[in-house]
Amino acid sequence: MKNQFTRRHFLATAGAAASVTLLSEPLFDGASVLAAVPLVRRDVGRMDADDPILLAYRKAIKAMQALPNTNPRSWAYQAAIHWTTLPGPLQVAWDSCEHGTDFFWSWHRMYLYWFERIIRKICKEPCWALPYWDWAPGSELQLPAPFRDPASELYTVNRHPAINSGAGSLNPLAIDIGPAFSNTNFLAANSIIQGPHGSVHVEVGGWMGSVATAAQDPIFYLHHSNVDRQWNLWLAQGGGRTDPLTNATWKSKQYTFFDENGAQVKMTACQILRAAQQLNYVYECEPPQVKEYCLRFPPPWWIFVQEVLSSLPLPPVELKAEPVTFPIELKEIRQRIALLVESKTDTLFLELDEVEAEKQPGVVWAVYVGLPPGAEPDSKSPYYVGVVSLFGAGIRSEVHHGFKPARFLYPLNRALQAAMKENEERLTVTFVPLGILIDGKPSRPEVKSPVRIGKAALLVEHRKEQKEPKREKEPES
Ligand code: C2O
Repeated sequence: MKNQFTRRHFLATAGAAASVTLLSEPLFDGASVLAAVPLVRRDVGRMDADDPILLAYRKAIKAMQALPNTNPRSWAYQAAIHWTTLPGPLQVAWDSCEHGTDFFWSWHRMYLYWFERIIRKICKEPCWALPYWDWAPGSELQLPAPFRDPASELYTVNRHPAINSGAGSLNPLAIDIGPAFSNTNFLAANSIIQGPHGSVHVEVGGWMGSVATAAQDPIFYLHHSNVDRQWNLWLAQGGGRTDPLTNATWKSKQYTFFDENGAQVKMTACQILRAAQQLNYVYECEPPQVKEYCLRFPPPWWIFVQEVLSSLPLPPVELKAEPVTFPIELKEIRQRIALLVESKTDTLFLELDEVEAEKQPGVVWAVYVGLPPGAEPDSKSPYYVGVVSLFGAGIRSEVHHGFKPARFLYPLNRALQAAMKENEERLTVTFVPLGILIDGKPSRPEVKSPVRIGKAALLVEHRKEQKEPKREKEPES
């Protein structure tokens, strides 16, 4: 039964399972000081500028900025762990952020966790927890006010001027998390959420607009606190959503960080599945956290298999300051699509690949499929499928470990259910450039660099039930 996990085996050894789990998920040195009640990461939108949490954050930023770049607890070193523009040879753990990969949610959770511990120690507030910026549409579209005060450590001039003045706010069409949340497959949701997340980077602009500099802006960490919270919220929707617990690579990939004493630490995804229990934090007002375990997981056991339904012949598509479209010919695939979009177990995706620009375009595009001519583009319409936002991949001038074009997935079932009724020969994919809102009205998008789309395809993802999950080799940790 080596490396073979069966339900019977699990039941037979359930008594032993707890200790096995414990061994496989070692506690950290600092675990002994963890409080009995998890700390609360609060909504910055409900904090005053003189909230003790924000005052302590300012104090810590100031102290960290005064440390030399070579100190792992310095502001510059911590930002460099994400990605760096600092000269000289790369130091331990620099440039390790994950974008456009399966480790986006997990890596950033680890990163914030250690950053938060460093802040907590430096500001000498044992109960300090990182707040979150709830930017999802309908919530806090403006940059939180305490971050707009030029006299504060929370401020940097390196942002879009209107965002910094408070006149500007995020465009709700750029940050809709609906398409990501609709997916039951972790890897699809983890990929799609990077779109709206990237829009926040691009629209805040300045340092935030480039991976290499983003983590130097104090708002970065509150933005990612919210992205991390979205992981919990995505899971809490249920419907069979789980972390990719049968994926040995996802579970065992190890990353390096530094703790509050400047000592190197290593971490894997198995150590961050249950934020409250393993990392000692919850989010204000969140539903009960879903508890997942690397070594035991309940049904449904699903695997997701993707196949290409058809590659779409693409005219040269360049995204600029005016809307552009390209057609999807339906003739040969119409029947197959009609069946697929009604299915409960299959998801149809539009995949855009080899997406790239010379520099950060400074603009994001909303994507619609089947939008009827003349219809008002709106993220609430069924034709809205997501965004093109370049961040972390696809930018030629921001290359560190070699150039990687960007790839995007857009779930199509809802759009096609609405569009297929029309009996048309082809569907139109529409890209609409979005400007930030100024005084509540969309501004003219200023495209600094056009975006080219090299490839497009329709993918089908089949969700299959498994009798028992096939156990891959367990990670050592
Ligand atoms: Cu690693 Cu939002 O960036």
